[in-house]
Amino acid sequence: MDQMTFKHDTVLSDVHMHRPNTHHLMTRLNSAGQPVFRSRFRILAESHDDSDSGSGSANEEKHESPRKDGGTSPKQDEEGGNQGNVEPCLDEDGDLDITHRPRKSSVDEGGRDLVCPIILQQSVPDLEQDEDSDDDDDDDDEDDDEDEETCCSKDIIQIEHTMATPLEDVGKQVWRGALLLADFILSEKDMFRGATVLELGAGTGLTSIVMATTAKTVYCTDVGEDLLRLCHRNVFLNQHMTDPAGVEVKVKQLNWLQHSLCTDADLEFSWTEEEVTDLYDNTNFIIAADVCYDDDLTDGLFRTLYRLCSSFNHSCTVFISLEKRMNFSLRHMDICCEAYNHFKHCLSQLQDMEDGRCGFKVEHVPLNFSQFLLYERIEQLELWKITASSLESEQTQSDSD
Ligand SMILES: C[S@@+](CC[C@H](N)C(=O)[O-])C[C@H]1O[C@@H](n2cnc3c(N)ncnc32)[C@H](O)[C@@H]1O
Repeated sequence: MDQMTFKHDTVLSDVHMHRPNTHHLMTRLNSAGQPVFRSRFRILAESHDDSDSGSGSANEEKHESPRKDGGTSPKQDEEGGNQGNVEPCLDEDGDLDITHRPRKSSVDEGGRDLVCPIILQQSVPDLEQDEDSDDDDDDDDEDDDEDEETCCSKDIIQIEHTMATPLEDVGKQVWRGALLLADFILSEKDMFRGATVLELGAGTGLTSIVMATTAKTVYCTDVGEDLLRLCHRNVFLNQHMTDPAGVEVKVKQLNWLQHSLCTDADLEFSWTEEEVTDLYDNTNFIIAADVCYDDDLTDGLFRTLYRLCSSFNHSCTVFISLEKRMNFSLRHMDICCEAYNHFKHCLSQLQDMEDGRCGFKVEHVPLNFSQFLLYERIEQLELWKITASSLESEQTQSDSD
């Protein structure tokens, strides 16, 4: 494990990059031969007020900010490497376990190889886990103990994910935008209470799972069977957070590049007619995290948003989180953020749209809400709100008035 293989298009999310490498526990290989890890994301009961973070102060402080009870240094915890643990920081021998701050720039410091596993090229089908089989079949004893401790904990989300992927598999990792959007949901729980919510490009399902702690029905959608199985498994791993409240998280295929929803009953993750009707009749919110990184996909995403919202005969609110990623552009011969520029262009096109059916209002949401999950709330993170109003239903309403 001291060597790693990065293909030219392999990407690694910062969410996974900054975890202590000793904590990476591989649970299995997926059907693409990628090692699957399990991380725990603790929802902090005592939220960290993040009113300055929108201005770009990195969250390093938050990893060490004093708690209300006077304690110090929440420690990044868990096996997959992860989030805030407020227990004393001792290892199994009683030694003080020092948690390092996230690196400012892992690229500058060449930090990647400290935390990355080798990317296996071959699938090992024998290790594939049946989703319905016992959760812990492949885990070792230590893992079993930890699972028992946390499997029913209401404040810990367990997510299986890969540690690095080619671009087409980015949904198998957790991205910072998912944590930002999850934070927003946790700080606005009343807004989403009892709602029907559609998540687009849900990836591992983390944000949908958080949404399910307050909404009534969550349609958690993405593309690709392998990814949807991973996502479904994560929903299953976290059902203790949602089941008692009777919330349904339905993992479904929804491809932005296709016009209609797949209702072929022979296919896994297809939609029933009842679900399609429910989606069109009742969706109050659409959410999406970190889904604008490729212009063609962004076009598809916005076409999907328009298609859905203009078919609803009620208003719907959309929240999109994203992280601006700066790249060197040969076209501009400069560092720029082309994917972000394209996103902004799509936003203004949507706002300017006049089709007589639906009106769109776009707003930038300030990041002054509390932080419940530990990650670096960097200045490149943004949250956007789009209010889609059905002009036909508004007209009918004013006619009847
Ligand atoms: C960067 S990942 C973000 C995943 C997750 N929301 C998160 O923030 O952790 C982008 C997501 O968009 C999904 N995606 C890409 N193309 C798509 C398409 N045509 N239709 C639906 N989802 C798509 C990917 O599968 C992936 O899950």
